[in-house]
Amino acid sequence: MCGIVGYVGPKSAVDVVVAGLKRLEYRGYDSAGVAVVTADGLSTRKKAGKLVNLQEMIAADPLADTGIGIGHTRWATHGGPTDTNAHPHVSSDGSVAVIHNGIIENFAEIRAELTALGIELRSETDTEVVAHLLQIVLPTVDGDLMEAMRRVCRRLSGAFTLVAIVADQPDVVVAARRNSPLVVGRGVGENFLASDVSAFIEHTRHAIELGQDQVVRITRDGVTVTDFDGATADVTEFEVTWDAAAAERGGYDLFMLKEIAEQPKAVADTLLGRMSSGALTLDEIRIPEEQFRDVAKVVIVACGTAYHAGMIAKYAIEHWTRIPCEVELASEFRYRDPIVNSKSLVIAISQSGETMDTIMALRHAKEQGAKVLAICNTRGATIPRESDGVLYTNAGPEIAVASTKAFLTQVVAAYLVGLYLAQIHKTKFADEINAVLTQLDDMPRRIDLVLDTTEHVRQVARDLSNATSVLFLGRHVGYPVALEGALKLKELAYMHAEGFAAGELKHGPIALIEEGMPVVVVVPPKTGRDVLHEKIVSNIQEVRARGAKTIVIAEEGDEAVSAYADVLIRIPEAPTLLQPLLATVPLQILACEMATAKGHDVDMPRNLAKSVTVE
Ligand code: G6P
Repeated sequence: MCGIVGYVGPKSAVDVVVAGLKRLEYRGYDSAGVAVVTADGLSTRKKAGKLVNLQEMIAADPLADTGIGIGHTRWATHGGPTDTNAHPHVSSDGSVAVIHNGIIENFAEIRAELTALGIELRSETDTEVVAHLLQIVLPTVDGDLMEAMRRVCRRLSGAFTLVAIVADQPDVVVAARRNSPLVVGRGVGENFLASDVSAFIEHTRHAIELGQDQVVRITRDGVTVTDFDGATADVTEFEVTWDAAAAERGGYDLFMLKEIAEQPKAVADTLLGRMSSGALTLDEIRIPEEQFRDVAKVVIVACGTAYHAGMIAKYAIEHWTRIPCEVELASEFRYRDPIVNSKSLVIAISQSGETMDTIMALRHAKEQGAKVLAICNTRGATIPRESDGVLYTNAGPEIAVASTKAFLTQVVAAYLVGLYLAQIHKTKFADEINAVLTQLDDMPRRIDLVLDTTEHVRQVARDLSNATSVLFLGRHVGYPVALEGALKLKELAYMHAEGFAAGELKHGPIALIEEGMPVVVVVPPKTGRDVLHEKIVSNIQEVRARGAKTIVIAEEGDEAVSAYADVLIRIPEAPTLLQPLLATVPLQILACEMATAKGHDVDMPRNLAKSVTVE
C-alpha cells in the first residue's frame, strides 16, 4: 500500500527511482511522483493515475539529471487520487519534499496547528503536514535532516514510512519507519531506500532490515540508523536470494500468468531442505521444540487469500494433531477479546509480511503470552521480525496483486507446521508423516499436469465472460478453495461471485440459482472420504435441476460426475487434504482469463493494493 523509493549515488536518480516505482506499482497505482535535488533546489513531477502517466509527463518535461531523488506510487487513503494529493509533498517554502506510506492518525490536529501559524495546506493528505513540520524544525537543529526527522516522528502517531530530501542537501536522504515497511539497499558508492527489495534488486542484493521506530540517513557512502531518540540502532543485514529476472514478466503477458506457471517450482522450493530422508526438519523455526510440545491450541490469523490458506490448514492440523485449531480474520481477531494464552500457538500467514491487520493481530497474541509463528514470503518484513519464529514460503517475488503462488506455498508451509506438531505431539507415526511428505513431494509434478489444461480452462473462461454472477461450491478443504475461487473472480473480473460450503446451499444460497447461472463445483477425491464425494454429486444435481450451468472440477477417472457436468475440468488424483494444491489452479486461470476477456488490468485490479499496510 503505497510504494516508496529513495536514491543517492552516481546514476540518474530519476531513472533509478522511476524503475524502482515500476517494480513497486503493485503496492498502489492511484498516482505517482518523484522529486530530485538539483543545483536550483527541489524539482518535482507528480501525476494521478498509473506510473505511465508520470513517465509521459517526465518525457514531455524532463527533470534535471541529478544523483539524488525520491519517488512514490500511491494507494489513496486521505484525499482522492488527484494530481494535488499525489506525493511528493513539498513544504510551503519549497525546501523539503516528503513521501509517505501509512496513515498519520493525528494529522488533523497538526494541520490545525499549521493553519494557525498561517501555513496554507495545498492537499487533502495526512502526509503534507510532515513537509511543513520538517521545514519548521530544520532551522532549529542546524539543518540536520536526521535530527529533524526524529523530532517530527516523535510528534506523529499512526503508521508511517517517511522519506525526505532537502533543497540544499544534495547528498542526504533521510527516512523513518513505524509500522510500515522500509528496507535499505547497500550499494558501492550509492545507497537505496524502498518499501521492498524489488525496487533496487537490479543494483544491489545487499539489504538492511530496519526495525520499528528507526530513522535512517543514506548518503553515497554511508548508512546511519538510530531510534527516534537518536541512539544508534542495531540492524540486520541480509542478502536477497533472488535476482532482478525473478521480478520481471519473463515473456508472459501478465505477472499473474507467470506466477501461476511458477507454482510447481514455488511449491518445490518451499519443501526444499525441509525434508531429509523422508523426515521433517524444521530447525530454522526459532521456537524451541519444548514450546511446541506445550501447545494446546492453534490459532491462525490472516487476511484475504492467506486467510483461505489458513482455513485449509485447519482441516489438516486438527486431523493430524488433534489439537484444536481456529482460523480468524486478522482484522477481527484483537477486537473480540480472543482466548489465547501461553499454551497457544498463533500462526500469522502473510505473503508480504506487512499486512497491518495481521501485524496488529500478532501483537495482540504476543501481549496475551502466545507464541507467534509467521508463515511469510518476504524476508525481513515486519511480521516475521516481530514473530517468535518464522517459516518462509520460498515462492519468490509475487508481483501480481491477486495472490497465486504464495497461496499454494502458504498451504504447504502450514501443512509442514501441522506435521511438525504431529511429530512432536506423537499424534502420527513417523511412517504416516513420511507418507504425507512423500505425497507433498510429488505435488509439483501434479500441479504441472494441471497447468497442461490451461488452454481448456481459458476457453471455458471466455465462454463464461458474459455471466453476471458465478457461484463456487466445495466441501471440506474444497470449501476454502471455493471461497478462494470466488475471491479471485471478484478481485479480477469485478463481478459477483460467492463461495459456499456445498452442504449449506440448501439453507439459502440455492435461491440465487437462475437458468444458465455458472456454478463451479470442486469435487473431493472419490477414494478419499467417499461420503463427501457422494454428497457433492447430489449437490451438483440439485443446482443443475434448477437451471445452473455446472463447471465441475474433478479428478481423473471420476466418472460419477460426468453426467452432471456441463463443463468438466480434470485434475490429477491426490489425497483429500492435498487436493487444494491442484483444484485452486484452474480457478486462478479462470479468473485471470475472465478478467482479460473483459479487458481489465489483471495485474493491477481497481481499488486494490497487494500489500495493505493500513487497518
Ligand atoms: C491484500 C491482497 C490479497 C492478499 C491480502 C493479504 O488484500 O490484495 O491478495 O491475500 O492482502 O496479504 P498478505 O501479504 O498478508 O498475504
